[in-house]
Amino acid sequence: MINTEDIYILGIESSCDDTSCAIIKNGLLLSNVTANQSIHEQYGGVIPELASRDHQKNIVPVIDAAIKKANANLSQINAIAVTRGPGLSGSLLVGLSFAKSLSLALQIPLIEVNHMQGHILAHFIGEVSGSEFQVSSSNNLTQTSNNLKPETSNLKPSFPFLCLTVSGGHTQIVKVISHLEFELLAETEDDAVGEAFDKAAKILGLPYPGGPLIDKYAKLGDASKYKFPMPQLKNNNYSFSGIKTSFLYFIQDHVKENPHFIEENLNDICASYQAHLIKYLLKNVLAVSKETNIKQIAIAGGVSANSGLRTELDLLGDKHQWQTYIPKFEYCTDNAAMIAITGYYKYLQKEFCGLDATPLARYSI
Ligand code: KG4
Ligand code: ZN
Repeated sequence: MINTEDIYILGIESSCDDTSCAIIKNGLLLSNVTANQSIHEQYGGVIPELASRDHQKNIVPVIDAAIKKANANLSQINAIAVTRGPGLSGSLLVGLSFAKSLSLALQIPLIEVNHMQGHILAHFIGEVSGSEFQVSSSNNLTQTSNNLKPETSNLKPSFPFLCLTVSGGHTQIVKVISHLEFELLAETEDDAVGEAFDKAAKILGLPYPGGPLIDKYAKLGDASKYKFPMPQLKNNNYSFSGIKTSFLYFIQDHVKENPHFIEENLNDICASYQAHLIKYLLKNVLAVSKETNIKQIAIAGGVSANSGLRTELDLLGDKHQWQTYIPKFEYCTDNAAMIAITGYYKYLQKEFCGLDATPLARYSI
């Protein structure tokens, strides 16, 4: 029987290279533990086979740590929520198989979650004000934990709102109609903006993932120094492949003339390139906002951690009287708290799935 008083959801995320587990009680986060995989840095990108092996290694300690951190025990959990896709099949398989085993052993429902919906619902992760702390330990486990206090703090978007969802594999503008209803209004026709950051970083000789490093150097540079082409699509969709290629030629041409061009101008290159990507992202958000007359604008996904994007969204919002929503830094990149909160809303609607659910490498919103 469903316990409607206290609802505990255990969420598992393993779609790419982060193994994460979170526990949410009545929509409030009790714990969120993530093991990052540093092994991919040396290869300049995620190696799927290595990622799934590391998930296999990490999943038990991560789930164990999340349960301990939450001061919970398995008998209290009402349902298991797990990322079904989109993502790397082998990585998804580890989390999904583990979630199925838990669901079967505990005789509780299994809830499948679309990773991109999870990114958006990160805006609804309930927190208790003033009680959050984050610990990074030497074994790469990052933990977020809350001690429950009566009042919650964060301001959440109301419906409908627009969400610019920007990650390593996706770039979308989504109309969010309710916690569980979404309409895709625009998306990239080729690469994702996260790839545009990571590829440029690789060209500059920076390790993977390069997005956060471009962000770091951009803070020190002149964003008006270099110019890049702005794609001209007829709709509000995005295209990043041309920008990526023009960046490659730009670097090659300058390095031919001056072999020290990158190290002498790294900050300005990063600042100019990042500003260009942000300008392009927000140009289409503005167009969609005008077309839909929706002025509640959120961002989500790994690239929403970018400090330039966060600042520029607020500036544009001031200009156009938008209400803007920027996720807490730790809920931008992949985490299980966003999967658990999505699971919570699906639990309320009794949206469960069978033990025969298979991973979906591609899974539209
Ligand atoms: O959502 P996410 O953690 O994983 C996927 O679902 O793909 O997003 C990862 C992407 C990577 O491309 C990474 O470089 C980018 O998010 N990213 C950033 C920043 N932090 C993460 N890009 C720009 N600036 C950042 N601060
Ligand atoms: Zn993601």
